[in-house]
This record gives sequence, structure tokens and C-alpha cells, in this order.
Amino acid sequence: MLYHLIEQQLHAALRQILPDAATAAVLVRPCADPNFGDYQTNALMALAKARKMNPRQLAADVVAKLDVREWCEPVEIAGAGFLNFRLRPAAVTAALRTARAAGHPFVARAASPRTVVVDFSSPNVAKPMHVGHIRSTILGDCLARTLRLLGHRVITDNHLGDWGTQFGKLLIGWKRHLDTAALRRDAIAEMERLYKLVNAASEADPAVLEAARQELVRLQAGDAENLAIWREMIALSQTQFDTIYARLGVKFDQTLGESFYNPRLRAVVAELVAKGIARESDGAQVVFFDDLPELKAHPTIVQKSDGGFNYTTTDLATLAYRLETWSPDEIIYVTDGRQQLHFRQVFAAFGRWQSAIPKLAHVWFGSILGEDGRPFKTRSGDTIKLADLLDEAEERALRVVSEKNPDLPPAGQREIARIVGLGAVKYQDLLPNRQSDYVFSWDKMLALSGNTAPYLQYAATRIQSIFRKGDIQNPEFGIQDSELSAAEELKLAKHLLNFGLVVEAVAEEYRPNYLCNYLYELAGHFTAFYEHCPVLKAGGADRARRLALCDLTGRVLRQGLGLLGIETPERM
Ligand code: ARG
Repeated sequence: MLYHLIEQQLHAALRQILPDAATAAVLVRPCADPNFGDYQTNALMALAKARKMNPRQLAADVVAKLDVREWCEPVEIAGAGFLNFRLRPAAVTAALRTARAAGHPFVARAASPRTVVVDFSSPNVAKPMHVGHIRSTILGDCLARTLRLLGHRVITDNHLGDWGTQFGKLLIGWKRHLDTAALRRDAIAEMERLYKLVNAASEADPAVLEAARQELVRLQAGDAENLAIWREMIALSQTQFDTIYARLGVKFDQTLGESFYNPRLRAVVAELVAKGIARESDGAQVVFFDDLPELKAHPTIVQKSDGGFNYTTTDLATLAYRLETWSPDEIIYVTDGRQQLHFRQVFAAFGRWQSAIPKLAHVWFGSILGEDGRPFKTRSGDTIKLADLLDEAEERALRVVSEKNPDLPPAGQREIARIVGLGAVKYQDLLPNRQSDYVFSWDKMLALSGNTAPYLQYAATRIQSIFRKGDIQNPEFGIQDSELSAAEELKLAKHLLNFGLVVEAVAEEYRPNYLCNYLYELAGHFTAFYEHCPVLKAGGADRARRLALCDLTGRVLRQGLGLLGIETPERM
């Protein structure tokens, strides 16, 4: 990658001036404003400041030693000591040629691959997956795909909520009120009904609450009947979750739910107590964080006064298990923002307990709002179920698709509608900064113009159609001896070269929105190129080179959408 090559030269030049300077933080990155150049480094100013040197002088000294003639126009020093690099068209052409030859365009595999556990989706058994789980599923899947493309070893783990006090009420409901026909029709809906029924009854009648508690105690003690019912509830839920995962194209390497860690919880607490990390307070075992200002007021219970364990205990046991089993360098948890305190507590407690800890990241996200700005609900005020949402997305997409392609057979229309509908839902979810809430809008997400999945999918299919129209097979085009000439070709090509940087940034900062915006800009550059530069009508070398640009753009669009978990139809 050109930016890597420039970076290496920059490091070499810098070491001649400051032999002891740490070069790792000296990065060459795209200029925010292309008027200044294609790439920029701002790192020299910080280095100069730390050494009380004149930053512009340091910049001048480095430039005097810097040899990037092969790739860049003369390097410019700007402002307080920025270096700006402008690529030479010949270097851009050569870089495209290399990328095409490598077959894996523009993304460099990580020099030192890491093992990363991604904990995401994690719905709760006997409850429908709702739109809140969609963000975790879509974000987590995208991060896992991105890390994999970069060459990391990724383990995806669905930490199902399959244990907890709700099972007391569910067991009562199952034993007293189960409607087996309804269970066969829609198991999760029936279990949800049972839960709500018993929950209401136990509010009205303490005897019901007590009975639920008894059932829970029996389950926890390993009662055979209760265990069998509990297992069935999990299996039925899993089947329904799996249907949704299959629709979304999401796979997990592991599904180790909370219950998997039950046998380990007692030992975890015993160890925390023995090490003085947890201590008794009002009959409970508690971890206090007196030395951490932000957690001082938030001690966390790891064993309740009734002897029971909780979400924190389970997460500590889970962390220990993951360390023992996979020795990860990094663990990523994808949940909504309301769990921020929980993970801060878990990470802090774990840091005291174990000495070698991997990088732990809580990747949190905001809520999905309805067009009225309130939490996204059905008209009757119920939470929206994921399956219904996906059905509606496909239906609405079918309307768009059949209008655009009235001649396509219905099965073909439906297949395109599936891809477009799911893509629209996913993209709308990934496009905003994940930490902000966003407004769910069918019209916006399905629009064929603007920063949407259908727009990008359409751009990708348009490129396919150029090849169809020209009846062009792979070997007939390429960037042989000709050079990118038109300004629009160069702009498009330079944008393509930065794909890998964006993919790396997505993985580093856990922000798929960078990729969405990159792809949207790419489609824009392609449109400008296609408007100004004849492709099929051009002759000889121009035609071959521009076809190669079309091909590379199409591949980056498809691969980029693929990282977002979005398919591209052949036509639309
Ligand atoms: N089941 C939880 C929920 O629905 C999410 C679990 C997230 N993962 C974890 N290791 N705590 O809120």
C-alpha cells in the first residue's frame, strides 16, 4: 500500500534526524481536505513539541532526508509543521496494477494476527429477539467479518441469556397454563405469554410468587423435571433464533450461554474472597473499587445474601474461561449503552483478580427510535419483534423492486427484495455513529438515492451491467501500459487505494460507520467517473484501463458491503 511505503520512508528519514524517536505513532493518513494533498502526517509537531524543537524546522530537516520521489510530487510543509504528500499519477496507476495482480485488492493482512473473541447478539431464552438485539447482532457480525478479513483469528460467541430468576415464573406457567398448540405455532410467543401471565399473577398473589421461587430453587438444585422443561425452553428458543440468524447470514463459532458457567461460579467467588478482592457486606460478597474514582460509588455484588450468583459473577467466570480456552489478545462485547457500568465493573474486578489480561472492549450502542423520537414500538405499543421487522423490510423492498423490474419473474423479484430489504435494515443500523440513537425510517432506508444500502447495491449492479453489456470476460481488460489520465479516474483510483485503511480503522475503533461513509463516497466518485469518462465507447488502452477501474470499484463495493453483512444482487 502506498501510504505504508511513504510511512516507511518517513520513519527512515526521521531516524536520521532523531535516532531515538518512537516512529510507531508517525502515521501517514488521507488528508481531510484533498486540496492540501492526498496524504498527510501531523506527527512531527508532537515530536518537536516534546523535545522543545521548532516544529517547522524539524519538518524541513526531515523533508531534506526524505526520499519519496517514486510515489509523490515534492513534499510540502504546511501550517505549524504538517507534511503533505501528493501522489504522482504514475504511482497511483502502478499501485492499482499491483492490487489487481494480487487479487486481494487494497487490504493488507495484519502483520501480527491477534486472537479476538467477539461476544454479541446474546438474546434471552423464552423472549423474542427485539430490535435492540438487532444492533448487537449486526454490529458484532460486521466487526467479526472485518477482523477476519484483516487476518485475525476470530471466535464469535453468543452469550445466550439462558439462566436466571425468570425461569421460576416460566416453570409455573409451563406446568399450569401451557397451550401446546400455541407452543407448536410460535414457541417464543407462547413462552412470553406464560411469563407475562405468571408475572401478573404473582404481583396480585404472593402465593404465586412463592411457588415460582420454589420452582426456581428446584431447578437450581438440579430437579430432573424442571431441568427437562428448562432444556426444552432453550431448544425451542434456539430454533427460533437460528431462523433469524440464517436470514441475517450470521454464524457463531460458539453458543455458550450463561448456564454453561454455573458450575464455575462458586469457585470464582471463593477465589475472589481468598484473594481479598471480594468481601462480605450485609451478608453479600461484594467487590469495592475504593481506589477507582469513577467506580468508587459503584461496588458490585458477586454473591447475593441468599447465596445466589448474578450477571457479574457469570461474566467474571466467562472471562476466565475464555482466557483459559482461547488465550485471546482481545475480547469485544457488543451490547447497548445501558450496560456500560456493568462492564466497567467486570473489567475492573477482573483486572484485580488476574494478572495477564487481554484488551477488553465494551462496544456499546444507542437506541433505535420511532419517527416520533420515542423508543421504537408497534402502533399498539408493543416491542417490535425482529422477525416481523425483517418480513416487513422484504415486503416493502418487493414493492420497490417490482416497480423497477416489472418484467422479472416473481421468484427473481422476491430474491432481490430479500437482499435489498435485509441490506437496508442492516445498513441503516450501521451507518450512524453507533453511540447515538437513530430514527428508524422505512422510507429513508429503502431509498435508491442517498447514503443507503439500496443505493450502494444499485451502484454495484450498475457496474456488473457494464460488463454484461460489453460481454467482457476477465482477461480482456487491465491496466497494462496506460496511465490514469482524467481527473475523475485519478480521484476514483486514489479513493480505492484507501479501502484498507478504512477497514483497519473499523476494526481498531469498532466503527462500521467509517466503512459505510467510505463506500458512499466511492459510489459518488464512480458516478463522476462514469459520467465523464467513456468506458465501453473508449478505445484500446483507455477502454481496458477504465474497465479495470470499473472492476476494482465493483469488487471493493461488494467486498465492503460484504463486511457489513450485506449481499449484492446480480441486478436490481
Ligand atoms: N443477554 C444480555 C442481554 O440481552 C446480553 C449479554 C452480553 N454479553 C455478556 N457477556 N454479558 O442484555
